[in-house]
Amino acid sequence: MHHWTTILISTASCILFLGIALYQLGVVGPNLTSTLLKLTLSENNKSQILNNTHLKGYSIRVTQQALCGSEVQFSGYVDVLDTDDHFFFLFFESQGSPASDPTLLWLNGGPGCSSMAGAWVEIGPCLINGDANGTHINPHSWNKLANLIFLDQPVGTGYSYGKSRVTSSNRAAQDVYAFLQVFFRMFPKYKTQFHIAGESYGGHYIPTLADVISTNNEHAHENDLLPIELVSILIGNGWTGFSTQIGFYEDYGCSNDNQPIFDEQVCKSMRDTKARCQYLADLCYKYPSRATCYPAGLYCKHTQLDPFENTGLNPFDIRRVCGQTTDYCYQEMYRLEVWADKDYVRQELGVDPQVGQFSHCNPAMETRFVLSADMVYDFSHYISQSLTRGVRVLMFAGDMDWQCNWYGNKALSLGLEWPGKDEYQQAKDEVWRNSDTRKIAGYVRSFDKLTFIRILNAGHMAIFDQPENGFDLISKWISNLTLQDM
Ligand SMILES: *[C@@H]1O[C@H](CO)[C@@H](O)[C@H](O)[C@H]1NC(C)=O
Ligand SMILES: *[C@@H]1O[C@H](CO)[C@@H](O)[C@H](O)[C@H]1NC(C)=O
Ligand SMILES: *[C@@H]1O[C@H](CO)[C@@H](O)[C@H](O)[C@H]1NC(C)=O
Ligand SMILES: *[C@@H]1O[C@H](CO)[C@@H](O)[C@H](O)[C@H]1NC(C)=O
Repeated sequence: MHHWTTILISTASCILFLGIALYQLGVVGPNLTSTLLKLTLSENNKSQILNNTHLKGYSIRVTQQALCGSEVQFSGYVDVLDTDDHFFFLFFESQGSPASDPTLLWLNGGPGCSSMAGAWVEIGPCLINGDANGTHINPHSWNKLANLIFLDQPVGTGYSYGKSRVTSSNRAAQDVYAFLQVFFRMFPKYKTQFHIAGESYGGHYIPTLADVISTNNEHAHENDLLPIELVSILIGNGWTGFSTQIGFYEDYGCSNDNQPIFDEQVCKSMRDTKARCQYLADLCYKYPSRATCYPAGLYCKHTQLDPFENTGLNPFDIRRVCGQTTDYCYQEMYRLEVWADKDYVRQELGVDPQVGQFSHCNPAMETRFVLSADMVYDFSHYISQSLTRGVRVLMFAGDMDWQCNWYGNKALSLGLEWPGKDEYQQAKDEVWRNSDTRKIAGYVRSFDKLTFIRILNAGHMAIFDQPENGFDLISKWISNLTLQDM
């Protein structure tokens, strides 16, 4: 990654956009700028390979799109020439001050679920309408305060395509890091304060990526890499630490807080098997390998998670029944697939014709991550490391989610090994109130760099369920304001 030299730009059909891209690229270097100028004037929509000493082996294709809203928005691919992998991204400029507002990368989970869900169902400026044939403006879009990048990764997710068959979060993070290097070289305007946010398996991806960024930052200059000013990470209903989180399904499912979900017979069987599950999980953590961790994952899933299947409820929101449409029990995810497959949407976004039918999630990817045991390895130590390095960490959890429930997430936050551990453990859970509505939105525990939030009346996609409160949360978090009610 130290000696990239190739950039490929497909300029698509948008002259307005080229003006913007050129303005951006003017900062990269005089040679590149002049080559690009030629491209703009003479080649219009054709692809060109441009060579730059910094970007060997990578290329980028960019398309302007204007599916909704009036802010600058574009999409495209970062191509990895060696491996023939192609990473799709969707970008929205901040509606505030793009050059000084932070930039936030959003990653959905799975593994193998498209971040277009984040863009078009959760936090983006344009949300898919009920007929799945258009979008409407999201008044609570996070791009009111930040430039937003939505990235489909690992390769094979959403609109991304390629040959590699990724099986680990560590490999995925290397690819995302390379993507960020290419993106920020091309668009230095957006290399402002950087945040990474996401949910679910993002609990694996985000801490790993944070570690790769911080580690590379230490030697960025020698290695001709751009340092990335990582300010914070935000993980919603994360899956991060198997050994901790697996212990809380019985507590969550059998607690009176939650109605309870299971009858006494099921609860007893979960309790009776928990000790063995915990023993296997501890063994996996002590001797991490596929041989120890894969069986631990299987046994614990079978005894602690699977009982939920008999309830008929939505595992991502225990208030709902799963229903018939069954794309992850959400009508919205079905609409996402319909919308994302429309010809005009794909054309507008510059989706490569090689990409087949759009799937919200790629089950083959998930299977690979299960088989490799990536799913059960510990990723919480990366959060601890980020805290120790001074990166702010926000863990939030919608309290109606079973799958990555808030009990397990809160326990994980309490167990993190970092200099503020004792004070964080002794901190109080305080009320978090939406500043506009003045209503209680949840409960917050915070010390120094670490914050945990229980979001009330929200499922796995907590921001989707509570967009107003989600906006209050991100506004305060990005401004480094306290979330506790004052
Ligand atoms: C690209 O350019 C070719 C010829 O220069 C033209 O036929 C084609 O319509 C253009 N495509 C778009 C999308 O503008
Ligand atoms: C860039 O390099 C490649 C191979 O190294 C070469 O084929 C191509 O012509 C070069 N492009 C330009 C614009 O110089
Ligand atoms: C979307 O579908 C609805 C219902 O079929 C229809 O009434 C509406 O005109 C459609 N909108 C667009 C933009 O096609
Ligand atoms: C964020 O706020 C805390 C106190 O609330 C302060 O100690 C810290 O320095 C602030 N961080 C930044 C980057 O401003």
